[in-house]
Amino acid sequence: MSILSPKLIQLVAIMSDCEFHDGDSLGQKLKVTRSAVWKMIKKLSDYGISITSIKGKGYKLDTPLLLLDPDSIQSALPSALNNKIKLDVFETIDSTNTFLKQHFDSNKISICISECQVGGNGRFHRNWFSPFGINLYMSFRFRIQKDISELGGLTLAVSVATMNTLKKFGVESKIKWPNDVYCNDQKISGNLIEIFAESNSTADAIIGIGLNINMDEIQTDDKLHWTSILKETGKIADRNKIAATLISELCKQLDLFSKTGISHFLNVVHESDYLQNKQITVTQSSNAFKGTASGIDEFGRLILTLNDGTTRHFSSGDAQIKR
Ligand code: BTN
Repeated sequence: MSILSPKLIQLVAIMSDCEFHDGDSLGQKLKVTRSAVWKMIKKLSDYGISITSIKGKGYKLDTPLLLLDPDSIQSALPSALNNKIKLDVFETIDSTNTFLKQHFDSNKISICISECQVGGNGRFHRNWFSPFGINLYMSFRFRIQKDISELGGLTLAVSVATMNTLKKFGVESKIKWPNDVYCNDQKISGNLIEIFAESNSTADAIIGIGLNINMDEIQTDDKLHWTSILKETGKIADRNKIAATLISELCKQLDLFSKTGISHFLNVVHESDYLQNKQITVTQSSNAFKGTASGIDEFGRLILTLNDGTTRHFSSGDAQIKR
């Protein structure tokens, strides 16, 4: 685990023009030695960033890159939010969700973001692919005055926040029950929620969101159905602006969820239900149920019409579409 260093952020900002910069001039601009510059270049390249290095010319980023910057994120947030959140931005971490299990401020919304994760977790103990510098891996820890039984639809409120954020950056998406956001039949984001219930109808929730931003085919040979903002728009997006938008959307939607529960979200969830009327298989433990997805009920559960015409409501599970 290491905190993202302001010098590394500055170095990448200078090199973001994808032109050659020599070690001496980079050192002067950053007020560090040439060998410190070399170490930072080496570190970036160890993280998988492609850099051309030519003797006498210096170093050049092969593709545009801008690192996350806590100051940029904070200055893009509505000012009312700034003293309500505690933000930590890391260069590398095991998992942002795991970090917030130990490190949080119970009087604030604690947020952890990292440039990469070495042990990123997805649902069902899957690994969440978390390469350096191109996507968003963010976790949120907050306290909610609700009983655990009322938190069933929380994941849908999180997906609404993600969907609203994507829309602001020109990407139309849909919610795939229970935890995903899809775009043109491909996954663009997933969330992983961990709840720590207390006895007095209060719970602490850790919400982890992975959002694919500037990832393209070159960064992964993964043949799964995934997409990213870059793939959808053809443009590299500013991850600091997206992080700030997602933070403020989440604060807004989580506040609404605390006040109204899932009821406020049902309309938008119905309108944006990716699975609606699709032939799917829902897997729960080792049981698989085939049928037609028939909406989301008032508790945020998926309604499945089985082939014999009867319906079943699922509060959790994995939904696979017949492609
Ligand atoms: C899924 O679709 O399976 C959920 C993926 C959740 C990934 C995010 S990335 C930030 C946070 N930290 C983790 O280890 N996981 C979540």
